Amino acid sequence: MYKISDELVSLGIARIEGFPVEGFVRGSGPLQPAVMLVGEAPGENELETGLPFTGRAGKELMLSLASVGLSRDDVYITSAVRSRPYKWGTKKKRNGDTEERKYNRAPTKGEIIAHAPILDAEIQDIQPPLIVTLGNVGLQRLIGKQAKVTELHGVLLETPILIWDETAGKFKESEESYHVFPTFHPASVFYNPPVRSLKEDDWRKLGEILKLKKVKD
Ligand code: URA
Repeated sequence: MYKISDELVSLGIARIEGFPVEGFVRGSGPLQPAVMLVGEAPGENELETGLPFTGRAGKELMLSLASVGLSRDDVYITSAVRSRPYKWGTKKKRNGDTEERKYNRAPTKGEIIAHAPILDAEIQDIQPPLIVTLGNVGLQRLIGKQAKVTELHGVLLETPILIWDETAGKFKESEESYHVFPTFHPASVFYNPPVRSLKEDDWRKLGEILKLKKVKD
């Protein structure tokens, strides 16, 4: 198992202080994974279990992994942000009362920058043979704001990735190229059911790519 250092966790917690986020969930998986999966941020479930993708989206993701012969233990799972971004909202209870509660939300640019050194370190240490981005947040964190999952999903890219440059205060491109395979976030099929068949096509392609890689290795 690969684990980011306690120092990096402390740095991440310090850098994201003051943003409306809570908790911290490390990425999880072996040092030499078949692929690295990059999502958005942990949600309520992940905070409870301490493991990425353990809620409803996680179940969906495990099915996709199983469809290409992989399980959680074979892959490194991480995301752009490692704390849970939340917003307050009103929930109607069965008895008609309302209560204020926290809802999951997508991370902001500031939160992504706050945790950029963590994802940079994970990629640097693990040197994943293939990075699978799940949704626009992970894709744009690594390739830039112009990249859209609707246009790039299911395409194997060989590309530099963005690394946070603290001195310059901006992202810069890596010198090396990486294999990046964009696909949809597993939760996207819950609010946009037609995405399901596109997502399943992507995973079929990913299965082929992994098979070819095995033959070559
Ligand atoms: N979405 C993510 O991007 N990561 C999780 O761990 C859960 C949901």
